[in-house]
Amino acid sequence: MQVLSGKEVANAKLDKLSIECDEFIKQNGYAPQLAVILVGDNPASQYYVNSKKKACIKLGFAHKDYLLSANTREADLLALVEELNNDKMVHGILVQMPLPNGLDEQKVIEAINPNKDVDGFHPINVGKLLIGLDCFVSCTPNGVLSILDYYNISTIGKHVVILGRSNIVGKPMASLLIQKGRDATVTIVHSKTVNLKEITKTADILIAAIGKPLFVKADMVKKDAVIIDVGINRIDDETRKKGYRVVGDVDFDDVSSCVSAITPVPGGVGLMTIAMLMENTMKSAKMHSTEEI
Ligand code: GUN
Repeated sequence: MQVLSGKEVANAKLDKLSIECDEFIKQNGYAPQLAVILVGDNPASQYYVNSKKKACIKLGFAHKDYLLSANTREADLLALVEELNNDKMVHGILVQMPLPNGLDEQKVIEAINPNKDVDGFHPINVGKLLIGLDCFVSCTPNGVLSILDYYNISTIGKHVVILGRSNIVGKPMASLLIQKGRDATVTIVHSKTVNLKEITKTADILIAAIGKPLFVKADMVKKDAVIIDVGINRIDDETRKKGYRVVGDVDFDDVSSCVSAITPVPGGVGLMTIAMLMENTMKSAKMHSTEEI
């Protein structure tokens, strides 16, 4: 059984981006810049936003962080997004999800200039992705493809089953895998799927993204399948200093004896999400630097 290290793939990507960033600064006299907005005090979101900031610092990217209170008015949030849309030195804008109750996530996503939408959440980018046009690709599914590529795991002709139909992972993951060149046969299963286990058992590659800790057990996977675990769940654990530990959507210990390869949690897909975000920000900076204004 092979452990597919997201850490290794992410580090390789970040090393490359660090060199690209130095070259970009030499050529343009400024750094690629990411603006991150966090509304409220969700601990997991705080952790992710902090990780994104650390990645910017490590690579030499510029960054702006906006930490707004949970009772921020929607109009003020939209005004901030608009200000960043108009700031020529900002190349990527990310609003950390989920937003607190009372703020319309879709409205905020659609307020972001699609050319600075490094999350790939704007309907323009989602639509372009579906029909195979160049666009900003949602970071987590793009990170999954990078892991598969790094380990030479082809998806051509394979049956890929995606557990979960979220806008952030499941749907864009399916869009990517059905494109020419990826050539997978894709099934999405979700909470209302009948005979879920029978379907997941036919997967050559199983991608779990449902946010249910340790959901996938050995009796749900085919022998020698490749398992990609997108889940990041905190579960109580009195033996840990923090009182919790992080687990995926897959029960690693249960499935590891029957699969051919699997991503661990932590150290798997999660690290790739940040690496792909940095890649998208670099892409955006390059795009904006060659724009004729
Ligand atoms: N919440 C969970 N994942 C993500 C992500 O990739 N981007 C944003 N903006 N919010 C998230």
